Amino acid sequence: MNDPNGLVYSEGTYHLYYQYNPRQRVAGNQHWGHAVSTDLLHWENMPIAIYPDRPEDGIFSGSVVVDANNTSGLFNSSVPSQQRLVAMYTLNTATAQTQEIAYSLDGGKSYIKYANNPVIDINSTQHRDPKVFWHSASSRWIVATALSQHYQIIFYSSPDLTHWTEVSRFGPAGVLGNQYEVPDLVEVPIEGTNQTKWVLFVSINPGGPQGGSFIQYFVGEFNGTVFAPDDYAIGTQDFGKDFYAGQTWSNLPPDQGVIGLAWANNWQYTADVPVEGDWRTIQSLARRLTLRYTSPNSEVARLVVTSTPTSLDSLSPRTIYDGGATSINATGNSTDISVPLVGNAAFEFNLTTTSSLFDTTNATMILTIESDDLYHQESVAIGYANSALWIDRGNAQKSWYNPFFTDKLSTYVQPQPIDTTTPGLTLRGILDRSVLELFINDGVQSAVVLFYMTDGRVPGSLKLQVTDGMTATLQVAQLEGTWNCGDCGASSTRSKRDEL
Ligand code: FRU
Repeated sequence: MNDPNGLVYSEGTYHLYYQYNPRQRVAGNQHWGHAVSTDLLHWENMPIAIYPDRPEDGIFSGSVVVDANNTSGLFNSSVPSQQRLVAMYTLNTATAQTQEIAYSLDGGKSYIKYANNPVIDINSTQHRDPKVFWHSASSRWIVATALSQHYQIIFYSSPDLTHWTEVSRFGPAGVLGNQYEVPDLVEVPIEGTNQTKWVLFVSINPGGPQGGSFIQYFVGEFNGTVFAPDDYAIGTQDFGKDFYAGQTWSNLPPDQGVIGLAWANNWQYTADVPVEGDWRTIQSLARRLTLRYTSPNSEVARLVVTSTPTSLDSLSPRTIYDGGATSINATGNSTDISVPLVGNAAFEFNLTTTSSLFDTTNATMILTIESDDLYHQESVAIGYANSALWIDRGNAQKSWYNPFFTDKLSTYVQPQPIDTTTPGLTLRGILDRSVLELFINDGVQSAVVLFYMTDGRVPGSLKLQVTDGMTATLQVAQLEGTWNCGDCGASSTRSKRDEL
């Protein structure tokens, strides 16, 4: 699988469609796979939802909306209003990329292609990934598409999902790389206020700053016609390499806010990753998105998209460690804390560590995820020192080498007050066999990090070390796995599928 498509909420169910190749374990022959969930953690695989009519064509990325008021005229009263799902996707052929729609009469299990497709055709082979939403202020549908290799997002409006009129274009802007893909324009609440701003997400591939696939975002205003960014800055939603082609759910009840997820992989190495058996690539955890005024330095506060995992309560978190480490003296090392990770499932850790801005001492925190073999031969390390956080996954890929599978990732972290007097950072990690999702300072920065330990090894313990005046506290909880699948291979709590 690759991109999440058509994330839509309907009658208590979260639908997740995704790019799916039923014939091979690499991208190609694109169909829309389908999974459903009521808690965004336990997923049930469903039959393929949208097929191409010809084997040489692909059903590329797109989105799904609930046409409750039947603006499209595609439904009759036998379909309850919240089940009127309309998908908009790109039909990819050898000669064109056109935008089509399809509608479901069975609550999203299968889709009937609209008779007068395509609904948008601009005679291009590089125009794709329609993301539709209802713009209530102007009472019309808006779709954002990527005119990929012109680095433009085109906005169209429609009263009925079938007739579309171009209203504006955005770009070139920000990181360009080779091309733009999968836009998403969404109104995001600003924490602590009753205000919102519009955020335009644009995926880039290849050519992201970390290499390969990358999501950038722009914060601004959308008046129903034009997206106007507040300034020229671009945001990075994830500083890892494994978070791409994200999308947010449509039709969420307002009290759920904005929730999205992304494909947890990178086009640079996805076809090469050393995963055997049934499962290949995965989606990230679902995340709630907000905007927060955050100080990257002492002079300004800027609006940053924050992301935090949605509730993990249905995985019954069970605390298995609650404690900390303190350095022995100003130049010493702490006694290591080692927490066994028993259960072979998933774990959450929460860590708080202190550090001043641009600390000139050697104060360091290192949290090491060790493999479950006797000698902990493989590991992933997370370190923090001197206002910088790094992740090193280079010691967890002993039998596999791919030059693009960057071993070290790092980011600058502005220390935040963690109590009235002490600056530092908080780190939340969700660890699931072969994927780590990190959230810094309550989601101001995040990183999805894949790692592939050899010979079926999985994380077996967490080791915490601090030095030279740095202090840290750590809590670890075990999470229930969600798949009863014997050989899950890469992961236990995600939606994933590979039927070979
Ligand atoms: C992004 C992407 C989209 C396209 C889809 C094809 O990962 O390249 O632009 O619609 O994947 O699977």
